[in-house]
Amino acid sequence: MDFDGSADTEFVKFWNSVLEPKFTKYRHILQGGLSRHSAAVLPNLPIKKGMSVLDVGCGWGDMTLQVAEVVGPDGRVVGIDCVEAFLQEARKDAAAKGLSNVQFSRGDAEVALPENEFDYVVARFGTMFFTNPVAALRRMRKALKPRGQITHIVWRRREDNPAWQKAKDITLRHLPPPGADADTCGPGPFSMGNQETSDLMMKSAGYEDFTFTRVDEKIMVGTTPEECIAFALAIGPRGEVFREAGSELAEAKRPEIESEMRTFFESQERDGHGIWAPTSSWVISARNPS
Ligand SMILES: C[S@@+](CC[C@H](N)C(=O)[O-])C[C@H]1O[C@@H](n2cnc3c(N)ncnc32)[C@H](O)[C@@H]1O
Repeated sequence: MDFDGSADTEFVKFWNSVLEPKFTKYRHILQGGLSRHSAAVLPNLPIKKGMSVLDVGCGWGDMTLQVAEVVGPDGRVVGIDCVEAFLQEARKDAAAKGLSNVQFSRGDAEVALPENEFDYVVARFGTMFFTNPVAALRRMRKALKPRGQITHIVWRRREDNPAWQKAKDITLRHLPPPGADADTCGPGPFSMGNQETSDLMMKSAGYEDFTFTRVDEKIMVGTTPEECIAFALAIGPRGEVFREAGSELAEAKRPEIESEMRTFFESQERDGHGIWAPTSSWVISARNPS
C-alpha cells in the first residue's frame, strides 16, 4: 500500500502540505474533540477479539490503537492515512503501548485498499473528504470479507455544528467565499451530513442493513478565546475562507473578524480545560452482503 508521493492527487498533496502542519499544531484540540464522537459508540460496536479491522483516514491513530486493544493479540488492525507525518506519530504511540497487532500504512483510500481482507472497517471523520465518495465507499466495502461490517462517523449538516459553522458565518460576513479553483482538501467536512444523500451513497456503494445514529457532543474548541480564534482561522471551512481571501484582504478584516469570533467563543461553555461548543455527527453502520 505504500507509494511514492509524487503520484499523489492534488487533494492528498494539499493534506500533506497545507493541512498537516495546522493539524499537528492543533492536535491537542482536534484529537480530543474527534474522539468524543467515537467514545460514544466504540464500546457498543460488534468488534470482537481475533477480528481483522481496517481504519480508513486514521490520522494519529488513537482510535486504531483502541480497536487494536479490543481485537487483542489474535486480531489485527491496519490504519491507513494519506499523511505520513500523522502515521509517524501513530507508530510511536503504538510502540509506546507495546501493541504489535497494529500496522500503519500510507495510502490514498480513493486509489487502493486491500480486498476481501477485513471483518470490520472503521473510519472516524475520514470519509467526508472523498472526491468520489460512492466509489471510495464501495472500495471500503470490497476491503471487507462477505458479511463484514463498516462503521464510519461523519459530521452532520453545517447548521447542526455551531462549533465549526458559527466562525465560518462570521468570516463570510467580512470576506468573499473561496472561488471555484481554490486549493482544497476535497468536498469538505459536511459532505455526508445530509442523511438522505448519505443513505443513497451507502446504497449505491452496495451496502445493506445500514443504520444512522446521531451523536451530539460538545467539544473543546480552544483553551482560551485567543486560541479558539487562532484555531478557527487556521482549520476547517472558516480557515479556508480566510486563507483563500489572500493575506492583504484577510489581514485588513482580521480585527473585525476576531472581535466577532471572540464574542461567540466567550458566549460558549467554559471550564478548567477550555471552551466547549456543540457538534453533531452521524455514526453510519452497514454490512457487506454475502
Ligand atoms: C479529520 S481527520 C480525522 C483523523 C482521524 N480519523 C481522527 O479521527 O482523529 C481526516 C483524516 O483523513 C485523512 N484522509 C483524507 N483523505 C484521505 C484519503 N483519500 N485517503 C486516506 N486518508 C485520507 C487525512 O489525512 C486525515 O488524517
